[in-house]
Amino acid sequence: MRIPENVIEQVRTSVNITDIISQYVGLKKSGSNFMGLCPFHEEKTPSFSVSEEKQIFHCFSCGRGGNVFKFLIELEGLSFPESVNKVAEFSGMDIDSKYSESQSARTQESTENRQLKQIHDDGAKLYQHILMNTEMGQKALDYLHNRGITDEIIKTFQIGFAPGKSVLQDFFKEKKVDYQLLRQSGLFIENQAGDLRERFIDRVMFPIRNQNGQVVAFSGRLLEKNKELPKYLNSPETPIFNKREILFNYDLAKKEIRTEGNVILFEGFMDVLAAYRSGVKNGVASMGTSLTNEQIYLLERSTSQLNICYDGDEPGRNATNRALDLLANQTKMKVGVLAIPNGMDPDEFVKKNGKEAFLELAHSARETVISFKMNFLKRNKNLKNESEQIDYIDQVLQVLTTIKTPFEQDIYINQLADEFKIDKGILRQQLIDLVAVQPKVVQQVNQVPRVRTDEPPVENRSEVMSDEKIDRVERAERLLLYRILHDHTAWLKIRSIDDFSFVHDSYQLIYTLAEGYLELHEQYEIASFLDYLPEESSKRFLMQIELMTVAEESSEDEFDDCVSVIMNDSPMEQSINQVRSDLMEANRLGNTELTNELSVKLIALYQKQQVPRTSI
Ligand code: UTP
Ligand code: MN
Repeated sequence: MRIPENVIEQVRTSVNITDIISQYVGLKKSGSNFMGLCPFHEEKTPSFSVSEEKQIFHCFSCGRGGNVFKFLIELEGLSFPESVNKVAEFSGMDIDSKYSESQSARTQESTENRQLKQIHDDGAKLYQHILMNTEMGQKALDYLHNRGITDEIIKTFQIGFAPGKSVLQDFFKEKKVDYQLLRQSGLFIENQAGDLRERFIDRVMFPIRNQNGQVVAFSGRLLEKNKELPKYLNSPETPIFNKREILFNYDLAKKEIRTEGNVILFEGFMDVLAAYRSGVKNGVASMGTSLTNEQIYLLERSTSQLNICYDGDEPGRNATNRALDLLANQTKMKVGVLAIPNGMDPDEFVKKNGKEAFLELAHSARETVISFKMNFLKRNKNLKNESEQIDYIDQVLQVLTTIKTPFEQDIYINQLADEFKIDKGILRQQLIDLVAVQPKVVQQVNQVPRVRTDEPPVENRSEVMSDEKIDRVERAERLLLYRILHDHTAWLKIRSIDDFSFVHDSYQLIYTLAEGYLELHEQYEIASFLDYLPEESSKRFLMQIELMTVAEESSEDEFDDCVSVIMNDSPMEQSINQVRSDLMEANRLGNTELTNELSVKLIALYQKQQVPRTSI
């Protein structure tokens, strides 16, 4: 049963957020806040802050933040109801048993899903039994042993074998499992007459576990190459198996990812296993597809460093490059590459060079994104050829424009200069020129469709949040939203403007939701409004707005300014547009003197516009 909002509210106000968080994080008072080392990533200087006044936490480095429920959800991987229950328990509050943890967990999980998981669990056991204890499984067992997979690993990963004849049918018939359920399980293929045939025949079976370690699907590998059949066959999507959300081995790797401080992403199951037996247990693989947003979000909850370890061959390097481009826009994790030499895949590497060599590679051979790209851009190029050399240098410089710190840029500039015997000063100048014609960071960020979060990657965050990089309209939107949420007079005032709406959807959404919230609540409180927002991205937006440094006193001028900027009718805007069209006209007529005069005027107007009358 869903926990009613007033109960959630009671639970939340029954505790002080600092009392909960200080059980996990050493907090020190600093100004009106508490500071500590962020529990979500490694750091040496504290960037994790807790506000007692607002009852929220926020990390300036990784961007995580929210109220007390969110803290436990992130830290312990709890569901929302579980988190509410945990907080209630902490404060000794007795909440109705119908909302209690086990109850709500049980009702959340439908009977059908539980049964589907049971079928998979039973299936995995049967397949493993066949592999380990029967004649039918012998050749598969030999195959696995040959590939270096020990009985211990077989047990840990519940690996099994689906023999050349059907076995599941009778097995489940005996257990009296419902036909409809079997149909839904994905373990069978249905013909037109409605008869079920086993999907996996003569394949080594790798169970796919969800993040709680429950088997929800299988991937079956052929023992021998067969041109007619796919090497790996996966379960289809079912109510319990969503490919976009699953990462192979995430459940076991989770703990290791936290202690190692990073996750390694592989292409294949076999690579995860090869790493595992080398003692590298923080590896996961996506299900034969490129990484999805859902998977990225899952990983972000346990780490801030993602290392890609795809195959070292051409397709693998191409896939790495694609993954890097995807990640650049979608994650705040730091990304690195573990390059496997000589076109091998990780599994082959372990076989050829041994476990220690892989352990060593995983720990020390991390390449930065830039250095990977610098190597990658060399493929198919003959660098002895002058024009290809110039192409290459151009492309590398283009990549270097994405780096934010001059120090880091310098490292690669030096490398380039050394490699091609070019003057460093020239390279640096060219880079500066390139950066100058680049679109601003914030524009890029806004253009990229971001499914999960509207926040920029961590490297850019501080810049995007600073005044210069957010455009004027957005700055006004933030300030106005802050004011109307915190000040009821401002709220009423904005409500009285008929055709008012925010330019950006994210702000408009928060505004609309605030309307419903304020109907039910006497006043605005960030920690409770956060639970009211349905989407993660709006929560993040609200946190950003809440964390702005805003002058305590608001003024009518400020309010009017914001509104007119947002509604795009500011006098400034009008004069700029006027001068611009005059300028174009003067230019067209070839009136140099007037052109010059108007240019100067326009620049002055632009400069004025850059300086906000109201500052955030
Ligand atoms: P690979 O062909 O690299 O597999 O495909 P692998 O893990 O190295 O396996 P071995 O060493 O040949 O036994 C990488 C991943 O792509 C998916 C699987 O998830 C596989 O682990 N894949 C591959 C499929 O889904 N179907 C296929 O037919 C092949
Ligand atoms: Mn392989």
